[in-house]
Amino acid sequence: MARPRTVFVCQQCSAQHAKWLGRCTECGAWESVVEETQRAVVPAAGSRTSLAVGAARGGAPQRLGDVAHEQRDRTGSGLIELDRVLGGGLVRGSVTLLGGDPGIGKSTIALQIGGTLAQAGARVLYVSGEESPEQLKLRADRLGTGLEVTVLPETCLEEILAVADRLEPQLIVVDSIQTVHSRELTSAAGSVAQVRECAASLTTHAKATGRSTLLIGHVTREGSIAGPRVLEHVVDTVLYFEGDPGSGLRLLRGVKNRFGPTNEVGVFEMGEAGLSDVANPSEILLAERPRGVPGSAVLPTVEGTRPLLVEVQALASRSVLAMPRRTTLGLDSNRTAVLSAIVDRRAGLRLFEHDLFVSVAGGVRVQEPAADLAILAAIVSSARDVPVPPDAVFFGEVGLAGEVRAVRHAETRLKEAAKLGFARAFLPEITARRIEPPAGLRLVGIPAVGDLCAALADSGVS
Ligand code: TYD
Ligand code: MG
Repeated sequence: MARPRTVFVCQQCSAQHAKWLGRCTECGAWESVVEETQRAVVPAAGSRTSLAVGAARGGAPQRLGDVAHEQRDRTGSGLIELDRVLGGGLVRGSVTLLGGDPGIGKSTIALQIGGTLAQAGARVLYVSGEESPEQLKLRADRLGTGLEVTVLPETCLEEILAVADRLEPQLIVVDSIQTVHSRELTSAAGSVAQVRECAASLTTHAKATGRSTLLIGHVTREGSIAGPRVLEHVVDTVLYFEGDPGSGLRLLRGVKNRFGPTNEVGVFEMGEAGLSDVANPSEILLAERPRGVPGSAVLPTVEGTRPLLVEVQALASRSVLAMPRRTTLGLDSNRTAVLSAIVDRRAGLRLFEHDLFVSVAGGVRVQEPAADLAILAAIVSSARDVPVPPDAVFFGEVGLAGEVRAVRHAETRLKEAAKLGFARAFLPEITARRIEPPAGLRLVGIPAVGDLCAALADSGVS
């Protein structure tokens, strides 16, 4: 095998340079050039090697209809919610990237998965570059699982692979990929080049040996550089942990999955003995909802296929600034700014004189347009200082002309609202006309933003 070749690649324009440069001579970007190693298997010019399972096997051309379905070998992780996000368990030889903020629970869930597999008789290698074996032992004691896992405090890629070849584990956990470095690269551990190269080597190893691999990656404060984002295309499955560190609730979101559903969400609660499945997240999310307080509206959101009732909160307070503030948490800030302009224009609320804070309680992130109506209800309620009816939920997309548009999964949202005892749903009129509501739920069809304000006034928000 020829020695790997080192090149310097601009992350902006992909130009290759023979040496490191502070500024790319092609596109002019500063500090965008990073070192990369090109492995010995050099693809023909213009072609790409793929790291997907079986993709690089080669073979005769055949009609797609004649290709037999591949039976995937899956192992349950011991957590129902995680298995659902994965599509039924960990696939043999697959590489899963688990990203998230520090302290969110990545190491905890990794040790729990490792513990479950080890108890079922599998060999599990837990490579720890972050914590000492003693610290891991403390965690395992606390979790009551994971003591059968083999711990390797090591950060050198070549050593890790050598140990893996000796132990032949069925699962390798690398905690975290940012601490691993290859001897073949001169750049520092945690740099884009190192992280990408090490992940690619571990992926090749996983494919060649059938060892499932779980890579843990921190989301860096700057967002993307050297964080899990640069690895998303290398691995098979990408999961992100979300949640407010202050609350016990954790959401595990599948953003890429070669072997299962994407956008599926698993809900966990972080307790004294680690993470446990949460079957009824809506109840927990709404447990602390204040009743009869202005600025709070309940939204039945759908994550993947899963309905979740979340509380949208808004606070409109008179501003002394020439440019009033628009602050959001857990919601798209541009969307919220547009919605406040719409309500200004269509309902004459004079929000441009107010600072506006809008958030989703419980650390949940909601990006879907169906949240519009709930955001508006919370804003209107706060601006007028009158609570929305406590037994109501709101969903629907709002257009620039103030019209309320239909959204997907209306039945699922309504069923979840009815299950939790809500009596009214404010929703797009077109949906209200089409749908048979679940027992106990009354539908209030809203054609446009002005009608929402009127309907709220009728039910108490004047
Ligand atoms: P950890 O898994 O170390 O986070 P990460 O690897 O993502 O950085 O989890 C850290 C937090 O979880 C820490 O604040 C303590 C808390 N925790 C519990 O509440 N219960 C538990 O059983 C464990 C192991 C951790
Ligand atoms: Mg950790």
